[in-house]
Amino acid sequence: MLPSLRGLPDAMQRLPDLSARGARMTLTRRDFARGAGLAAAGSAALMAAGRAPSRALAFPPDGDYDRFDLARMIYHENPLGPSPAAYEAVREVIGRGGRAAARYEEEDQRDLVEAILRYNRGRHPSARRLSARNVMLLLGSAEGLTLLPDTFIPRGTLISEWPTYRIIRERVWQGDGTVVDVLLDPQTERPDYEAMKEALRAHPEAGLVYLTAQNNPMGTVIQRGEFDRFARWVFRNRPKTVIFVDDSDPEFMDPGQARQMPDFLGYVARGEKLVHMQTFSHVFALTGLRVGYLMAAPGIVRRLRRKRIRPPVNVFGHAAALASLADPGEQVRRSYQNCAEGREYIYSELDKLGLRYSRSQGQFVFFDTGRSGTSVWSGLVSLGVLTRFGREWGRESWIRVNPGLPDENQRFIAALRTVLGQSDPGNLPPPPVPLEDLLPSTPEGRILVRDLEHRLAGASFAESRMGRFEGAIRVTEARRLRASVR
Ligand SMILES: Cc1ncc(COP(=O)(O)O)c(C=O)c1O
Repeated sequence: MLPSLRGLPDAMQRLPDLSARGARMTLTRRDFARGAGLAAAGSAALMAAGRAPSRALAFPPDGDYDRFDLARMIYHENPLGPSPAAYEAVREVIGRGGRAAARYEEEDQRDLVEAILRYNRGRHPSARRLSARNVMLLLGSAEGLTLLPDTFIPRGTLISEWPTYRIIRERVWQGDGTVVDVLLDPQTERPDYEAMKEALRAHPEAGLVYLTAQNNPMGTVIQRGEFDRFARWVFRNRPKTVIFVDDSDPEFMDPGQARQMPDFLGYVARGEKLVHMQTFSHVFALTGLRVGYLMAAPGIVRRLRRKRIRPPVNVFGHAAALASLADPGEQVRRSYQNCAEGREYIYSELDKLGLRYSRSQGQFVFFDTGRSGTSVWSGLVSLGVLTRFGREWGRESWIRVNPGLPDENQRFIAALRTVLGQSDPGNLPPPPVPLEDLLPSTPEGRILVRDLEHRLAGASFAESRMGRFEGAIRVTEARRLRASVR
């Protein structure tokens, strides 16, 4: 779950209109739901479908999604689920009886660390120069996104690409720090390294730079050469600053693109101030079990360890991660194939609709609806397809969709065609925007709707409170957001 902002309701009342056209919103909520379509008809269809769970919903076994026949394309997840071996390993732990869950996990998780090193050595020659001292297990990579700012920049300044994955920024604000956003280069949608250097010069206090190897949401990737020049500049001119690379989807990259990636583990092996992080949540689909890891110079790992409670990985996650790595080939192959085919299918359909999109090397596709994206998003919800509104990345007309199984992808495209076939109802009114008309009104439906409302409110609030971009750079101090971050 993404952390979201607390203390919103008061501030929400004063939110400016976020409409892409800047026009004041005059629709009532109910008009809106009717305009977006589809609410009543969609809701009835979802209830009917709820009695016959679709194949597409085999994973995750989530009550709300099964019951309402929702296509879950909202989160960065692998719709295939974990490998059979990983399931089996968890069953085997359960089969040992209650004691497995009742006891503390072993402090020594060296077998998993060794398996991680083996996996990486098979993929990157530089990993052969790494040892267990370079590896730190994490409670999902989200733990790394909190641990690094806590350790390196308490109350300090983060330089981050923008748009990007949001957890680390929210952690910086929780700790009363400052986030300096640097817009991606508008031509390439990759990090703008010259602007990053400018931000570093303007903020000598900034001790951490955050980049996603596969930019989430754009899906573009960091390229060697341009990154290497930037990294050398940082190491030479800012010897205390740490570069943090969040490499969450390497297995979803097309082989040609993967060859363009910098040798991140080479930096780690040379003892540079670069932290490289990976997760078991995506290709291995252990998302709910929360297993991630980072690789860094031993001195950095030691510093990070002082800040945390050990051991991070629980018995089930440990067993499933080990089993995933015992023979990873088939899981990696089938996950890549499902995602790559899903991306290609979605591109071809977006082409037919004449919509702009960013070709992605991650498990998501970000596209421009050409109108109010948040309205399109809610129209899709009413048809049972959950995606992510671009508002949370400051791109109001865009939507991020995570490719699912083939029938979910088709369902998404059919729903998108239906929604775009309606007239554009304009933007959503300023939050709070109850979405209750969009999903069946049952206790489970209401829980889901509340979660969506909360996300929309949080994203809208944060977006409206950010500082202004001066050129490619925007500075947002925690106090601008006023509300604390959960
Ligand atoms: C770029 C990026 N980093 C980190 C994560 C968090 O992954 P985890 O489940 O390991 O905490 C995600 C999840 O969506 C992500 O997209």
